[in-house]
Amino acid sequence: MEERTIHPDLESILYTREELTVAVKALGEKITQDYQGKDLVMVCILKGAAPFFTDLIRSIDLPMNIDFMVVSSYGASTKSTGEVQLVKDMSYSVSGKDVIIVEDIVDTGMTLSYLKKVFQDRNTNSVRIATLLDKPERRKVVLEPDYKCFTIPDAFVVGYGLDYAEQYRNLPDVGILAPRVYEK
Ligand code: IMP
Ligand code: MG
Repeated sequence: MEERTIHPDLESILYTREELTVAVKALGEKITQDYQGKDLVMVCILKGAAPFFTDLIRSIDLPMNIDFMVVSSYGASTKSTGEVQLVKDMSYSVSGKDVIIVEDIVDTGMTLSYLKKVFQDRNTNSVRIATLLDKPERRKVVLEPDYKCFTIPDAFVVGYGLDYAEQYRNLPDVGILAPRVYEK
């Protein structure tokens, strides 16, 4: 195997690019089975979910529409403010559609409980959540993702789309950010 050095700002690697690939492909196959005959719309929550989303949709063997939304995020902090704002909406109507919201991580659950409500108010046929990572220890609202790749402990992670202050999104692995990076 090719030698890889760990990014100096990471404390450790949680999931390698190979492990991510395997998990995302398995999730795609599961969604392919579950959404036979449905009117599927996959919605990517930018920016964090972008790498996961592009891998996931290509592992789903079904007709679908895709769209993108931007919601407000943490800013340069590792703690959620709990306030969610819709910055960019979708381009098409989702009335009667079977929507899967694709996120990078469910942390407090505030973002996704807000988004779920937004879609339910638009008369969708169904709304489900697919997340790469689930961090259940920090949940503030009752929210269980319908699909997830991994459950992680309460640590701040970056890579494969996940950022700290807009950095590290391009790292191919998911790793734990060294606390000295955000504590300084
Ligand atoms: P929630 O509303 O608290 O569930 O937060 C969800 C958003 O917080 C995610 O879309 C991420 O942008 C961000 N987030 C939460 N935990 C982490 C983390 O460990 N690393 C990077 N971003 C995170
Ligand atoms: Mg984010």
